[in-house]
Amino acid sequence: MTTSVSFHLNGLAVSPDADSDTPLLFVLRNRLGLKAARFGCGNEECGACVVEIDGRARFACTTPLSALAGARLTTAEGLPDHPIGAALLAAFAQEHAGQCGYCLSGILMAAFVLLRANPTPDRASIIAALDGNLCRCGAHGGILRAVERAVASLAETAP
Ligand code: FES
Ligand code: FES
Repeated sequence: MTTSVSFHLNGLAVSPDADSDTPLLFVLRNRLGLKAARFGCGNEECGACVVEIDGRARFACTTPLSALAGARLTTAEGLPDHPIGAALLAAFAQEHAGQCGYCLSGILMAAFVLLRANPTPDRASIIAALDGNLCRCGAHGGILRAVERAVASLAETAP
């Protein structure tokens, strides 16, 4: 049944219409025009679709629209507006992290959730936070260095 669900997306109130069981990923990409979150497996196995929902990294491919009423979401499109997100984007660019880039939106969002909860994670904590995100290009080394670079830059600018 088509329904309208209201939530906050990257700081803006939205109320997209869709069947209540439509996966968030399709709502983002097809209704709201936000293409950063990607479809990989559709089954919580690759992490390409990860977004932040109320402070947690969630799979947009299996989160139904009906679960989002009143929620606060961040997608990769919203990262430049947040100091942690901006630091991650800069660090990934400086480290040339990734190759094809297909996994990077989900990885950035998983790292964003981690750094909001723990601004000084060690490498083991970063690896654990990214455990649900696959990178078929094998770019893990650069990705880990990029997250560590973001941690260092945020520490330098901390009050
Ligand atoms: S597309 Fe959601 S985990 Fe793979
Ligand atoms: S950079 Fe290609 S899948 Fe990760």
